[in-house]
Amino acid sequence: MTIPAYKNPILPVTERIEDLLGRMTLEEKAGQLNQWFNLGPDHYDQVRRGEIGSGLMANSSTAGNNRQERVFAKLVNEIQKIAVTESRLGIPLIFGRDVIHGYRTVAPIPLGMAATWSPELIQAANTIAAKEARADGIHWGFSPMLDIARDPRWGRVAEGFGEDPFLAGKLAAAAVRGFQGNDQDAIPQKFPADRIVACAKHFVGYGAAEGGRDYNTTEITRQTLHNIYLAPFKAAIKSGCGTVMSAFHDIGGIPLSAHRYLLNDVLKEQWGFGGFVVSDWGAVGELINHGIAADGNHAAGLACNAGVDMDMCTMVYLQNLPDLVRAGKVSEARLNDAVARILRIKFAVGLFESPYADPNASQAIHLLPESLAAMRRLAASSMVLLKNNGILPLCSDKLTICLSGPLADQRQALLGCWTPDGQEEEVTTLKEAIAGRLGPEAWLHHCELSDDAVKLARSSDVLILALGESAGRSGEDNCTATIDLPAGQEALVESARRMEIPIVAVVFGGRPLNLSRVTDWADAVLFAWHPGITGGLGVADVLFGDVNPSGRLPITFPRSSGQIPLYYNHRPTGRPAPANSRRHSRYVDSLDSPLFPFGFGLSYTTFEYGNLRTAPAPQKPEISVTVEVTNTGNRAGTTIAQCYVRDIVASVARPVRELKGFERVSLAAGETKTIMFRLGPEELSYQDDNGNDVLEPGRFQVWVGGDSNAELGTEFEITL
Ligand code: NOJ
Repeated sequence: MTIPAYKNPILPVTERIEDLLGRMTLEEKAGQLNQWFNLGPDHYDQVRRGEIGSGLMANSSTAGNNRQERVFAKLVNEIQKIAVTESRLGIPLIFGRDVIHGYRTVAPIPLGMAATWSPELIQAANTIAAKEARADGIHWGFSPMLDIARDPRWGRVAEGFGEDPFLAGKLAAAAVRGFQGNDQDAIPQKFPADRIVACAKHFVGYGAAEGGRDYNTTEITRQTLHNIYLAPFKAAIKSGCGTVMSAFHDIGGIPLSAHRYLLNDVLKEQWGFGGFVVSDWGAVGELINHGIAADGNHAAGLACNAGVDMDMCTMVYLQNLPDLVRAGKVSEARLNDAVARILRIKFAVGLFESPYADPNASQAIHLLPESLAAMRRLAASSMVLLKNNGILPLCSDKLTICLSGPLADQRQALLGCWTPDGQEEEVTTLKEAIAGRLGPEAWLHHCELSDDAVKLARSSDVLILALGESAGRSGEDNCTATIDLPAGQEALVESARRMEIPIVAVVFGGRPLNLSRVTDWADAVLFAWHPGITGGLGVADVLFGDVNPSGRLPITFPRSSGQIPLYYNHRPTGRPAPANSRRHSRYVDSLDSPLFPFGFGLSYTTFEYGNLRTAPAPQKPEISVTVEVTNTGNRAGTTIAQCYVRDIVASVARPVRELKGFERVSLAAGETKTIMFRLGPEELSYQDDNGNDVLEPGRFQVWVGGDSNAELGTEFEITL
């Protein structure tokens, strides 16, 4: 008996897909486009009939608190066996899950990862996450989240890489490579067997939700879309990202899950994206709530025609697409295109050849000591030292420490949002981490800062206050009307201040918080994000000086909620702000400047930038920028050299500065290194309203330094 072409691994994938498409009924095609969640025995008949193409492992209770009961791989295998052996064509299912920051070995939240400014560390973290997830039978992770966010009230700011499209783009590419293991810049024919497919989400502009309220409407101009919001997605697609998730919201009245221009014209046609688009959960059905679809049939037609290939959890594709094709409202060519895109990814994952998971694999790969060590390094590298009057680093030998504050001994808060596979009991708290490293003559008192504890605190050398947000205060659907610290925390710092002992504030959080008062009152402030399973250890590494902090803010920290939106790469106004003058863009009741600018972060040493030079490349619109960086302190450290550019005169107003290069530079005490940034068409162009690159000749300004306020700068000219 000859095997059908689509089952023949020797044939090219395009041929196998064509063969399969030729055999499928309209219903089976619609089935491939249908994703459903928490599949179990109730869904077996649908799987047999070929009505489900993908499973979404949303159920964290399946994993259970006791990891011995973990049954993901078995569950996947059971359903997969039905799909492969009992459905007419035997097409395997693809299983997706929210693998957002680490898997069981939980990494810092993505905003924290972004603070490392290290594509290498992020790629390594995502490699660990991919291997752990794949061992559990998961083929597809719903990240990286690439929503640029300029409003820290939006809870999902925690899940992204911050406010800057250039930084987010570099980190997006690294995140995708870590998941997929591909080293080429295209979706590979085949992913390595121990990796998972990435999903760039939420396409696009979701972070611009009005009022910072999740799922809310947005107004984004084409200029801002192409230059800011689309940019990191473009970088992810360029690095071979296999899937994209369309977002919940609308831009100017067009919901993203029906946005033909963005999904079809930009993503698929202009960028040549060859993977598939999945809607966000329920988003196709929600076109009815948005008020652009009358019913499920209408919604399915709009979404499919716009370019959504897979319907996450509404069944409206399954129920309506065959009829829509028969009625000529969706072309069969469009349906075939959607199916082919999904099959292409299934072939690339190797599902037709190896549909099953090894039920014992996770034991060998989860929580490996080297994975925990990598996450600890990542966590320590993500910490941003915001203030230090010299109290840090602490000496662990002879010190009486009083540790207090609501997050001093918390586990879940360290894990952060979206950790369905993280286990609280596997987290080391800050209290445990500090206790574990104190020398024999040192003491740690842990107390609530009540009256009784005041005496204890008074007799200590230093008071460490663990402040900030619980895990559930950021992430999806966790928006805040202000960025103030949770109730009572400022008062805690204020009462501690009266004791006149040095205060070190360690602030955990999923968003920039208003730290104006804490920064005034504390002697040192370390922003630790939600740092993951080894986060307590990472904080202690920094507090005691084993790790010299090198994290830099990937997002502006405003002085107050009233300044929002506040971001460094804003456009100039006709009335920019000279100090102390009237009639310019400013507030009368607040400073205009942020509390901490984008790119900011201190170290236990100091760095100086000097000798900035530019040199044009012969015969092409490119310039090299060199600068000397010196460690002027007395201990080794790492700084992140940042290169900012401004196009001084252009046909549209360009931002006052934009990040166009960065490099982590490690220097011994007293050491100087010369580093170079190359600025060519990619860095010096902007996009017009149709997404075309525009490079205009003329003068540019460039600055290099340790944050977005860098003063060392010069001008150069680009001629075409
Ligand atoms: C909704 C969220 O918006 C998205 O980020 C997530 O991946 C899906 N649910 C699946 O859980």
